[in-house]
This record gives sequence, C-alpha cells and structure tokens, in this order.
Amino acid sequence: MTTKRVKTGIQGLDKLMQGGYPEKSVILISGGPGTAKTTFALQYIYQGAKNNEPGVYVSFEQEPEQLKETMKDFEMDLSKLEKEKKIALLRIKNANDITDVLELIEKNVKKLNAKRLVIDSLSSVEIFASTFRSMIKDLPTGLVEKRYGFYPPTKTIIRRLMYKMMDYFKELGVTTLLISESQNSEYSRYGIAEFVTDGLINMQYLGIGSKNFRSMKIIKMRQTKHEEDFIPFEIGKQGVGVRKIEKFKA
Ligand SMILES: Nc1ncnc2c1ncn2[C@@H]1O[C@H](COP(=O)(O)OP(=O)(O)OP(=O)(O)O)[C@@H](O)[C@H]1O
Ligand SMILES: [Mg+2]
Repeated sequence: MTTKRVKTGIQGLDKLMQGGYPEKSVILISGGPGTAKTTFALQYIYQGAKNNEPGVYVSFEQEPEQLKETMKDFEMDLSKLEKEKKIALLRIKNANDITDVLELIEKNVKKLNAKRLVIDSLSSVEIFASTFRSMIKDLPTGLVEKRYGFYPPTKTIIRRLMYKMMDYFKELGVTTLLISESQNSEYSRYGIAEFVTDGLINMQYLGIGSKNFRSMKIIKMRQTKHEEDFIPFEIGKQGVGVRKIEKFKA
C-alpha cells in the first residue's frame, strides 16, 4: 500500500519529498532563533485548513493575536479560518502535567475534526517535563532524584514523554509538527526527540560574507525518498517558499 501524504503548505517542498509528510507521522522542525520555524508551521496549518484539513496550533511562546498579525503580512487570514472553525490557536502558559496538555489538544482536535497539529515548541514541553507527575511515577529508584526537592529532566523522562505524546497524536489521527529550538550540534534540547520522531527538517540562517542565506535540510523522513541536499528558501510575500535554483547548463 502506498503511503498517504499530507501536503506541507510550503511552495516547492512537497515535490522534494514524494508529495508531503507521511500521514499521521510526527515531524520535528528544528532550528536556531529566527530561522522561520513558526512561520513554516503556521503555513502548514493555514494551507491545510484552506484545503479542508482543519488544524490545531498550540503555542507556548506567542499569543494567538501576535501569530495572526504575523501571518497577515503574508496575506494569510487566520482569524477568518478560526471563525469558520477550521483552525484553533491555543496558548498554554503553564502546564501541570502532560496529561492536561494532551486532553486540551484532544478536545480541540475532536471539535474541529482536525487532521493537522503543531506544538510550538516541543522545547517548552521538555522544560516542564521533569515536573510532570505522570512522567516520573514508576521510575526505578535511583533515576528519580529526590535530594534536591525536584526531579531533574533525565533522558529517560524525555524519552517517556516523547513516546507518550507520539502515541497519543497517532491515536488521534493527526499529522504533527513539533517545533524544536536547536542548539550546537543537537536538533533538540535533550538530543532524544530527533531519534524518536518520524521525520526531521532542520532550518538554518547563515551569513556568508555580506549575504544571508536561509536554507532547510530534510535530515530524515521515514518511508520517503527525499532531497538530501540543502534546500534554499526565502520568506517572500506569500511566506516561506523554496527558492528556484538556476541549474548551470554547459
Ligand atoms: N513580513 C516578513 N517578510 C520577510 N521576512 C520576515 C517577515 N516577518 C518575519 N520575517 C523574518 O522571519 C523571522 C522570524 O520568523 P519566525 O518567527 O517564523 O522564526 P522562528 O524560528 O519561529 O523564531 P523564534 O526562534 O523566535 O521562535 C524574522 O526574524 C524575520 O527575519
Ligand atoms: Mg518561533
């Protein structure tokens, strides 16, 4: 059976990965500050909703109003789609446990019959993870450090969190983008998410001489033959789009 594909919403990208993300997969979008992660993900939600694939966007970082303003610059009217119940923009400021976050997501996904989901950012969830009761219960003694009165975020907790979230999203039937703030050579805060997710796209913003170049790279995409080289892109009038490369002809 051929894998069903979910379009990325990014001009020029689908054809570099067999038509889009594998349906119901969980994809990590990693990158440093200002590499257009949020714009990339909002476009995924916007274009999906326009195409009858409703979406839920969960933001830990920015107010929905600010997100809407950003997209207005690219002539993408999120407010209209919100009124039509094709998208939901949720802001989470504090999370007591991952179960609360997942229940809120489930409620909204079911309400909209959503097919698409974005978490902006996974890094925020990871930071909260060590305080999530459901993530630390039943851990073998020794892994849970009680001496300091808090539970340090071990790689075990993060791995548990990832499996819990991924299973949940697959069960809901959505195709998910998890945004990750990458630092140094790792694609995620604890170096775990990039191994357990189904796909990984890394966004970059490089200064070379007096010029700046934006590019992305598909590091992995399970079940998919994809472009392996850097993919230059720009933020134009219609948002993020792959730049056409003039191939040198002999
Ligand atoms: N209207 C616009 N036209 C062109 N470029 C823009 C426009 N609006 C924003 N940008 C560029 O996009 C960048 C921010 O994009 P975005 O917020 O999607 O990045 P991010 O990776 O999510 O950033 P952060 O690390 O802060 O979360 C800005 O720093 C700016 O360079
Ligand atoms: Mg962002």
